[in-house]
Amino acid sequence: MNWMNEELVKNADACYRLAEEKAADYFQSLYELVIQKTYIPTLTKDFQSWKQNHIHHPSLLSFFSRGKGKPDSREYHHYIQWLDYRGKLDNYLERSISYIFMRDLGKGLDSSDTKNRVRRTVDNLKNHLTIDRGDKTESFSMAGLYRWAQKEGVESTIIWVFDKLKTVSSNIPKGMDAEQARRKLIKIIAGVLLHEFEEMGSELAAEERTHKLDKAIRLGFAYGLTYPFIDDLLDSDVLSANEKKQYSDLIRATLITGTVPKLGKWTGSNTNLIRYIHKELREAFEYIKGCQGAGSRRKFLEQAYVFFHSQEIDRVKDISNENYTNEELYIPIILKSSSSRLIARSVLSAPEDEGFDNRTFFYGIYNQLADDFADMFDDLKDGAVTPYTYYLKHHLRRPDLINPFELYWTVLYNLIHNVYHSDTTTSEVMLDRAINGLKRFRERFGTKQYNEVMELFASGNLKFKGIIEKMVRKADDVDFLDKLLRDHMMTILKNERKEQEDFLDTIEIVRNQINHILPIPKIDHNPLLVEPITDAANYSLKGDGKRLRPIVAWVMGIHEYGLKISTIEPLLKSLEYMHTASLIFDDLPSQDNASIRRGRPTLHKTYNIAIAELTALFLTQKATEEQASIDQFDSKTVLKLIQYSAQMTADMCRGQAMDLDSKGKPLTLEQLNLMCFNKTGIGFEASLIMPAILAQTNELEIRALKKYAYHTGIAFQIKDDLLDVEGELSKLGKSIGKDAENKNSTFVSILGLEGARKAMWEHYCLAIDALQKVQLKTTFLKHLLNYIVNRDH
Ligand code: IPE
Ligand code: IPE
Ligand code: MG
Ligand code: MG
Ligand code: MG
Repeated sequence: MNWMNEELVKNADACYRLAEEKAADYFQSLYELVIQKTYIPTLTKDFQSWKQNHIHHPSLLSFFSRGKGKPDSREYHHYIQWLDYRGKLDNYLERSISYIFMRDLGKGLDSSDTKNRVRRTVDNLKNHLTIDRGDKTESFSMAGLYRWAQKEGVESTIIWVFDKLKTVSSNIPKGMDAEQARRKLIKIIAGVLLHEFEEMGSELAAEERTHKLDKAIRLGFAYGLTYPFIDDLLDSDVLSANEKKQYSDLIRATLITGTVPKLGKWTGSNTNLIRYIHKELREAFEYIKGCQGAGSRRKFLEQAYVFFHSQEIDRVKDISNENYTNEELYIPIILKSSSSRLIARSVLSAPEDEGFDNRTFFYGIYNQLADDFADMFDDLKDGAVTPYTYYLKHHLRRPDLINPFELYWTVLYNLIHNVYHSDTTTSEVMLDRAINGLKRFRERFGTKQYNEVMELFASGNLKFKGIIEKMVRKADDVDFLDKLLRDHMMTILKNERKEQEDFLDTIEIVRNQINHILPIPKIDHNPLLVEPITDAANYSLKGDGKRLRPIVAWVMGIHEYGLKISTIEPLLKSLEYMHTASLIFDDLPSQDNASIRRGRPTLHKTYNIAIAELTALFLTQKATEEQASIDQFDSKTVLKLIQYSAQMTADMCRGQAMDLDSKGKPLTLEQLNLMCFNKTGIGFEASLIMPAILAQTNELEIRALKKYAYHTGIAFQIKDDLLDVEGELSKLGKSIGKDAENKNSTFVSILGLEGARKAMWEHYCLAIDALQKVQLKTTFLKHLLNYIVNRDH
């Protein structure tokens, strides 16, 4: 870093030293509290009054019904309902929101302004949580988020975030946890949004509100990126020691100079990863900078530097080193935990708030110690140095080491009585949280391990230990919404991930099987007759098609309706034959005049126009032949199938004709939808409805499936229109820019890129809504829809 301005380096060092001094003072005061143990009688008294609200002497009746009916707190919706039913929801939300205001917004709970805001938030939230939606909509779903974004006018921003999250997940290397990365990013975006909601109040004009929310989301993402791409990356083993050095020098230089340096020379297997990260972080950093005035930028950089540097100091610690002093252990922790919270605010350039800085500074380590307590065994396994792991390993030889559990209680004491002036709400909420943390620990690791941990960490004062343990055993009503949400979100993300993997596996396996049955055998009884049609048809079929339509029919027919593969094989073939025929027609010079399809020259290029036309006709006839060969169902059913299929093919021709006729015309949204449904949506509808016809599904279900197919099909075509502009030939297997070249009227030409994206997500939401009415298991269809809007080919 010798090229770096010495002044700047000095300034950064000075900043860090200043912060360090403040942290050292704080630590010293905590240390004295630990030694003098004066916090114990005060906290004991606090517990005495606290327990009035939390230890209920059960009546005989409730004794018998105790424990019954209380749902597992992991079942999010049930749990909320249960709280409501038992009249506990108000208190629950009050404690949760108060805590979030204190922790995430740095508010003092003793101010009447904060109390009012908490009250308002609780009321809104309660309304929101107790509405009976009467459907299966999941919270945190993309559809739910998109609907929220529409209400706030930030659709484009949400679409942008969806895309970003997708690429971040796909770029997280194997040695790191993609789910955690996503969860953290979402959490940080939510945190910054929360700050913004608080700052802007409720009287803002809609436009201004939208503008602020857009900025908050982008800033949240920009700042959130530093978690997976700086902290987690440097914590993981993905980079070699040299790479880590090179990488952290880069970050350091950024924070010192306020400009992201060029990446410089990178070699080795992580080069692409680092290039990607460098590009993303530079964009993020520029965005944050662009939103800040000079003053808040300086503050942000200083805090970020303190954050980064304290983490670096912490990171290089070695658990086997016996000689760290208490100061060496705790000061970086005080710094990193407080600066990470302070940054969230300076990212937003929120107005100066002396109280906020002060409270947040003292608060940080409280959370850090609570987290480190909960994670001590994981950290121990990873060889990470935290106050708890270090104490576990070295306390026997190092009687001078502070017991982190005792320090934790002094932090708590100091917060309640000094920082928050013995405010009763604060005391209530913090003790709730403390007991909740211990209860969660006991639940997670079992009583035996909990007892051992308490034995080791809490034995400094047996009376106080007794009190805490009693509270952990007996106290009730200490749980929190943010923990519930965290668990709920983790469950959802994990499930979604698993479902998505299953989905991808399924389509891969089914595709292979379908590819096997597609080729049309040659009639070669007359070797003298040259017959190129079958070859031509097989040429088109053999290309790299996704086979989505027969895959859908397979999954519905076999998995959902329990039909046998042998009975619906002809149906699968017919679907792909009809689809391939439509592509051959579509590519003809008289239509889209395309020269590449499915990664190879189009049929009319390889053969000639006449052969292409005949082959397309040939394939539609083959499709009918296949359908007519379905003989394990009664003939009426098969006739119904063929009739449906013929009608749909006719409608597709209409759709395609509309498409060709609309070149250069300003279609209305209605006309666009109609055209796209006809030319494309119908193919999807057929792949859902034809197995349903064979399975003799009831009319109601058919109607629900059609509605889903309608919106999914249009979403599919919009994505196709988008890919025609933004896609890559090598992935798509067809040329880019054909629509513009042909002056086709598409969603993009009529609504613009952004408008088309919004329309796609609107249809996405409507398709998800439609799924609510489908009786069958809809996991596959949900992931099909996700796949369609997220695909790159
Ligand atoms: C392309 O369909 C034609 C449209 C309806 C937009 P696909 O994208 O499903 O094409 P293949 O079958 O995978 O080649
Ligand atoms: C085609 O739409 C619809 C059909 C049913 C063939 P496009 O013309 O946009 O399809 P691509 O982009 O050529 O595959
Ligand atoms: Mg076309
Ligand atoms: Mg085309
Ligand atoms: Mg297209």
